[in-house]
Amino acid sequence: MNNAQLTYADIQAIVSEDFAIMDKQVFGSLNSKVQLVMSVSKHVIDAGGKRMRPLITLLTARMLHDEQSQQAMQLAAITEMLHTATLVHDDVIDASGLRRGKPTANATWDNPTAVLVGDYLIARSFNLLVGFNHLPLLKLFSDGTCDIAEGEVLQLQHQHNPKTLESDYLQIIDGKTSRLFMMATKGAALLQGREEFLDDLGAFAYHFGNAFQMIDDVLDFSGDAAIMGKNLGDDLAEGKPTLPIIKTLEFLEHSNPAMYDKLRIAVQTGKVVDDVQMLIKLVQSSGALDYCKARALEETKNAQHALNNLPNNRYREGLYLLTELASSRLV
Ligand code: IPE
Ligand code: IPE
Ligand code: MG
Ligand code: MG
Repeated sequence: MNNAQLTYADIQAIVSEDFAIMDKQVFGSLNSKVQLVMSVSKHVIDAGGKRMRPLITLLTARMLHDEQSQQAMQLAAITEMLHTATLVHDDVIDASGLRRGKPTANATWDNPTAVLVGDYLIARSFNLLVGFNHLPLLKLFSDGTCDIAEGEVLQLQHQHNPKTLESDYLQIIDGKTSRLFMMATKGAALLQGREEFLDDLGAFAYHFGNAFQMIDDVLDFSGDAAIMGKNLGDDLAEGKPTLPIIKTLEFLEHSNPAMYDKLRIAVQTGKVVDDVQMLIKLVQSSGALDYCKARALEETKNAQHALNNLPNNRYREGLYLLTELASSRLV
């Protein structure tokens, strides 16, 4: 496969049949008696999304044991259901209006509805996980879901704090993003009874998740809203100290105190004193985005390195290509 022309569809095609079945199961597994639960869930799930976490589960399962597995497809669908729940909650917290190219659940209905339906999606995920009758798998997912929630709360705790450090940021994204990537890979290994690969799969997913979130945070300053399907600039408007903001503040503190103060106040108050475009340009020209891109590449390389210890087949190649594709969103 030529990396230069690589598309997401090429990687999906490696597990096309599994992927198509999983995709139907994401919504098909919802069985609420309450119509509003079904319509809000359908709204978010039908809006699309890349289905990247389930793709990771399917590739991992096949990499470890190359046979179609009903359980792996079901687990993949559950990872997407959990991911969707975190997005529904995240959009309430971030007061975001656009997701997957459509108005968010909170914008279409309201915050209470979005919070409760997000809760339902998590509850239903665990309802389905119990059906595996696999305690280590249940433990992986219950511990992981606590970590995700803690990551989001930690982020909230650092909102409006211009003194947030890169190490704080790493702790936040480890929970809110990388943990689910780890559940997606390690869960597949547990299902296949291949515990010997848990550590390397964990390392792969941890670094890939970190890279993915770093890139997402860069794109909040330099991406295209139409392609991303969500509003950009939200992080700054919310006073959320992501890595681009942390680094811009660090670079400006001594070199340009006046500009440092403007950005600091924007983070502290969530209010932009002058023009938000000016602050976005400030971040863009500070060198912070280059730093973040370099850090994301470093994480990508670490993820790829961990893959070397896993079975070498086309599914492993698929995981490798996924990290390449994610990191090429940088250019
Ligand atoms: C969005 O994840 C949340 C982040 C971790 C940045 P995705 O970019 O995978 O969102 P969808 O599922 O494709 O909508
Ligand atoms: C990712 O954080 C959300 C979760 C992992 C729950 P972001 O706030 O950066 O995600 P987007 O940009 O809204 O998709
Ligand atoms: Mg958000
Ligand atoms: Mg974001």
